[in-house]
Amino acid sequence: MKIAIAGTGYVGLVTGVCLSEIGHDVTCMDTNQQRMDTLQKGIPPIYEPGLEELLRKNMAQGRLYFTVDPKQAYSNADMIMIAVGTPENEDGSADLTYVEQAAETIARHIQKDVVVVTKSTVPVGTNEKIKQMIERIKPANVHVEVASNPEFLREGSAIYDTFHGDRIVIGTENDKAAEVLEELYRPLGIPIVKTDIRSAEMIKYASNAFLATKISFINEIANICEKVGANIDDVAYGIGLDERIGLRFLQAGIGYGGSCFPKDTKALVQLAGNVQHQFELLEAVIKVNNYQQSLLVQKAKKFFGSLYGKRAALLGLSFKPNTDDVREAASLVIARQLLQEGASVIAYDPIAVPNARRLLGSMIDYTEQIETALVRADMAFIATEWDMIKTLPLQQYCDLMNNPVIFDGRNCYSLNEVQSYPITYISIGRKE
Ligand code: UGA
Repeated sequence: MKIAIAGTGYVGLVTGVCLSEIGHDVTCMDTNQQRMDTLQKGIPPIYEPGLEELLRKNMAQGRLYFTVDPKQAYSNADMIMIAVGTPENEDGSADLTYVEQAAETIARHIQKDVVVVTKSTVPVGTNEKIKQMIERIKPANVHVEVASNPEFLREGSAIYDTFHGDRIVIGTENDKAAEVLEELYRPLGIPIVKTDIRSAEMIKYASNAFLATKISFINEIANICEKVGANIDDVAYGIGLDERIGLRFLQAGIGYGGSCFPKDTKALVQLAGNVQHQFELLEAVIKVNNYQQSLLVQKAKKFFGSLYGKRAALLGLSFKPNTDDVREAASLVIARQLLQEGASVIAYDPIAVPNARRLLGSMIDYTEQIETALVRADMAFIATEWDMIKTLPLQQYCDLMNNPVIFDGRNCYSLNEVQSYPITYISIGRKE
């Protein structure tokens, strides 16, 4: 199939690369010339395990192209996927500017019958608007079908998720468009859920909202565990073995970050509000998450009294391991709070330093050596459970820090392990 993809962000790029890998002819289109220049050299602008290898392979084999020319991308395509960003408006709703721009450009350049598929996360009803917009502008002799095909990729394992996802959701108005998409995905052997467009749009928001709810739920239980003297790790394991609950996404910590959960939970609250439904449960999930992101500094203040003049090592900047993405990361909240309290901060991350520097500037110091962050620090804050942080021998904290105090937001060490070291270890949902 000849496929064009609008937008080479994380979703568009990974989807384009993976579809070319299963043999399709893919042209990725983006208005950002600099980004396309980099991609044309075979360099991915984001860090994603396995991406560069597949990108280069499929470019070399002549199945994957990058262009800023919409005519080249769209005029001849059998299918066009919209995978542009839907950032957050000030009120929390989804900003559809890029989606609308992409739809308009597509309508102006298509020359043959085509299925336009929305992969971007968009509020219910958006695909209908996209369809109306394209119908208004497109050439009269061209027939356009619109479909919703949300993605469920996780950053850091996006390639794996594309080939081994739990399901593929296809929302269409008719069987013909659904068949084209089914044919596209059949080689992956992943179960397909076929539904109407509005339900497909809702599945995406409801999935992310449910996962965010699981995280805020376990974080609330963790906070109660601390007060009643229970251990969250055992509690999560004990409830998670019930298959109706499941063990995954029950890792208590300093809350969810990233480009999806914070944005999508707020957008769903807004969406519900638009139809006069107050989504109180999800509002509480968001509130708990905000609280959780500031929990470590609260714990530090309680322990030290004042943080003024103290040196803090901030371990991990990305919102989770295996990505350089720092959007909505708890580390940013922690860094800003520590500065406000008069502490100095040196942050370690194996790959996210450049992205963090863009947001935090020179307010803090940075290093890509974990030991450098810990030297003479009065307190260490673990914000991301990178392997190199999780496996750092506890003796290192003792050797490098002044009287080591660790505030662990990801419960990287077991309480038993820590016991045999002269370390004050304060984590989440466990006895101090
Ligand atoms: C999330 C979803 O997992 C994907 O299915 C979805 O496609 C994606 O959003 C999206 O909408 O594009 P992602 O944001 O990459 O993927 O990352 P997750 O692995 O879901 O983690 C999100 C946040 O939750 C991280 O900050 C992580 O530390 C936190 N988390 C996750 C916890 O605090 N506890 C857990 O048990 C799991």
